Amino acid sequence: MGLLKDAKSIADRDPAARSTLEVILLYPGFKALLYHKISSFLYRHKLFFLARYISQKCSRKTGIEIHPGAKIGSGLFIDHGHGIVIGETAEIGNNCTIYHQVTLGGTGRHKHTKRHPTVGDNVLIGAGAKILGPVTIGNNSLVGAGSVVLDDVPENSTVTGMKARVIKMAGQKVVPSLSLEHGKVPDPVAQEFGKVRMEFENKECNIQAIMDEIQTKIKELECCIKKSEQGEDLKEK
Ligand SMILES: CC(C)(COP(=O)(O)OP(=O)(O)OC[C@H]1O[C@@H](n2cnc3c(N)ncnc32)[C@H](O)[C@@H]1OP(=O)(O)O)[C@@H](O)C(=O)NCCC(=O)NCCS
Repeated sequence: MGLLKDAKSIADRDPAARSTLEVILLYPGFKALLYHKISSFLYRHKLFFLARYISQKCSRKTGIEIHPGAKIGSGLFIDHGHGIVIGETAEIGNNCTIYHQVTLGGTGRHKHTKRHPTVGDNVLIGAGAKILGPVTIGNNSLVGAGSVVLDDVPENSTVTGMKARVIKMAGQKVVPSLSLEHGKVPDPVAQEFGKVRMEFENKECNIQAIMDEIQTKIKELECCIKKSEQGEDLKEK
C-alpha cells in the first residue's frame, strides 16, 4: 500500500525515527498524507465541501494545510508539521522533504489557473521557506531555510536567501562569471552597486551635517560682525 511505503520511506530518511510504527502513530506529516489521500479522493469526485472539511480537520490537528486539489507524489516527508501551507494547484514530485513553516503559495487571484509552485523529485525545502507563484523547483534541488523563492530553480541547485539566488549547481559553488546566464546567477554588480549606494547615502548624510554646521558658524560670524560694527558706530558717535 502507498501509505505504508511512505511511512517506511519517512522512517528511513528521518534519523530521529525509531521505527515505521512510530511514524504511523506519531508523525503529523504522515497523518497529513493520510488525510490528503482522503480529501484528494473526494475532491477528484467533485465532493468539494467534504474534501475541504477533511483538509481543514487535518490543518487543525497537525498544523499542515494541504489543499485537496494539490498533487503529491510518493514518499513525501513533512517533518515536524506546524504552519505548513500547500496550495490548490501545487504539485510535489516523489521523495521530497518539507520542514515546518513552509508555504507553497499562490501569487495570483485568478481562479482555475496554475497559481502555485511545481516541485520536482528529491527536493528538500528548508524550514520557513516560502515558494510563491507558479514557479518550478527542479529535481534534486535544495531550498535553504528561510528562503523566499519567486523564480524557477534549475535542477540540482541550492538556493538560499530573500529573494533566493543560486549558490550551488550540481554540488559546485556558483562563481559569478560572464559566461553564465545572468538571470540564473547572483547579480554581483547589483550587490556591489547596493553597497556603494549605501556608502554614498551615509557620506551624503555626513556632508549635509557638515554643511549645516558651516552655515550655523557663518550666521554666528555674521552676528559678531554686525555687533562689532554697531559697537564702532557707537564709539564714533
Ligand atoms: C541550504 C542548505 C540546504 C545548504 O546546505 P549545504 O549545501 O550544506 O550548504 P553549505 O552549508 O555548504 O553553505 C553554503 C553557503 O550558503 C550559506 N547558507 C546555507 N544555508 C543558508 C540559508 N538557509 N540561508 C542563507 N544562507 C545559507 C552558508 O552560510 C554558506 O555561505 P558561504 O559560502 O558564504 O560560507 C542548508 O543550509 C539548509 O538551509 N537546509 C535546511 C535545513 C532545515 O530547514 N532544517 C530544519 C530542521 S528542523
